[in-house]
Amino acid sequence: ERIDLKGYFVLPGLIDSHVHFRDPGLEYKEDFRTGSMAAAHGGFATVLDMPNTVPPTDNAAEFQRKIRIGERKSVVDFGLHAGFRSVSDVKGILRFMPASFKVFMDLTGISAVDGLFRELKALSAPVPVTVHCENRDVVMESMKELKDMSDPSVYALARPPLAEEVSVAEVLALSLHHEHPVHICHLSTVKSLQLVEPFRDYVTCEVTPHHLMLDSGAFRRFGTVVKTNPPLRPPESRIYPEFLDRINVIGTDHAPHGIEEKRKGVWDAPPGIPNLEVVLKLLLTLVSKGRMSLYTIRRMLAEEPARIFGLRSKGRISEGMDADFTVVDLKETGSISSDDFYSKAHYTPFEGFSYTGTPVMTMVRGRVVMRDGEVLEGNGRYIPAEHDSKPETSGSEVDLS
Ligand code: DOR
Ligand code: ZN
Ligand code: ZN
Ligand code: ZN
Repeated sequence: ERIDLKGYFVLPGLIDSHVHFRDPGLEYKEDFRTGSMAAAHGGFATVLDMPNTVPPTDNAAEFQRKIRIGERKSVVDFGLHAGFRSVSDVKGILRFMPASFKVFMDLTGISAVDGLFRELKALSAPVPVTVHCENRDVVMESMKELKDMSDPSVYALARPPLAEEVSVAEVLALSLHHEHPVHICHLSTVKSLQLVEPFRDYVTCEVTPHHLMLDSGAFRRFGTVVKTNPPLRPPESRIYPEFLDRINVIGTDHAPHGIEEKRKGVWDAPPGIPNLEVVLKLLLTLVSKGRMSLYTIRRMLAEEPARIFGLRSKGRISEGMDADFTVVDLKETGSISSDDFYSKAHYTPFEGFSYTGTPVMTMVRGRVVMRDGEVLEGNGRYIPAEHDSKPETSGSEVDLS
C-alpha cells in the first residue's frame, strides 16, 4: 500500500510516558483498549502506564498480569511503571524490565522511599525512580483550615506550591545521596524548576498539558473538572511554554474518571484530567503561534521519554528503530470537542479551544493504527525497558520467559 503524505509533517511515533489506563480494577473509568485507542487517536505510538490500578502493579505477579492485559487489548505499544510497596518485591519486578518505579511522596514515607533507592543500588539496577512530589505534612496542614469551604478554587490552596517544592527538595537529596536517577512527574511551579536546575546529572522532569496551558483561574470556569494533583497554579508561580527548554518531557498524566464522580464537591471529586486526545492539537497550536517548535515536540514527546525510560527501539526515526511515526497536518484548524474521544472520559477543560494543527496518522511498527481521526485495529506489544547497565554490573540476569 502506498501512503501519500504530501503536505504533512512526519515525527517519530510519539511516546506518552505518563498515562493512567485504570486496567485492571477501574475499567468503568478507562480500560487498556479505550485508553490505547485514545492514545492512537491523539498521535501516540507508545504509552507508559502508571501502577495505581486496583490492585496496584507493585509485585511481580501483578506486573506480569498487566503485561498480559495490555498485550490482549492495546492498540499501541506500551511499557509499564512499577508501583512500590515493599523492597521484597523489587527484584521480582525487575525481571520484567519496568520503565521505572513510581512513588507517590504524599502517600509513602521518606524512609520507605530511601529503602527503594538502597534496594535498587544493591541490585545494581539503574532503573529510574519516578516521583509524584507533594509533601504530606504541608498538604495536611493546609487542608485543615479549608475543610469547610466548598468553592472548587480552594483546592489550589489545600495543596499549595510549597507542598510540591518541599517534596522536590527531599527527592533531590535522595537522588544526590544515592547518585540514582529520578524523574519528577508533573512539575508545576517555577520554584520547583529552580530547585531541579543544579541536579541535571541525575534528575529529569515532566510538565503536563494542563499545568502548561491553564492556571488556577480555570477552577472558576470549569469547577471540579480541573481538579488534579498537583493542582493548577496561580499565574505568578505556574509553568509557561517559554520554560520548556528547561524541562525534559511533556507527559499527559491522562487520568480519566467518570463525569458523575468528577462533579462531586471539591473534596469528593477524584483528581485527574484526560488529555491524550487534546495534547498534540494544543502543542501544534503553540507551534503555529511561534511559542514552541516542532523540534521541542520531538524532543519532549519522543527522544527524551525514549532515553529516560530505556525504550531503545523508539523515539527516533533511523535505521534499527521501530517504524513508529506520527503524521501531523500543521494547517488544519477547528475547535476541540470531546464528542469524538475514544477515551471513556468524554470531557475536557479544553472543550471549544480553537486549534491549528492535528495528528492525521499514527503508525506502530509499520502498521497504521489511526488515519484521519479514525482508530483502526492494532496489536500493541509490551516494550521492556533497557536501562543503561552500570559498568560494575557483571552481566544482567534478565529473563522474560
Ligand atoms: O490528578 C491526579 N490523578 N494525580 C495523581 O497523582 C493521580 C491521578 C489519578 O490516578 O487519577
Ligand atoms: Zn502524580
Ligand atoms: Zn505522576
Ligand atoms: Zn499521574
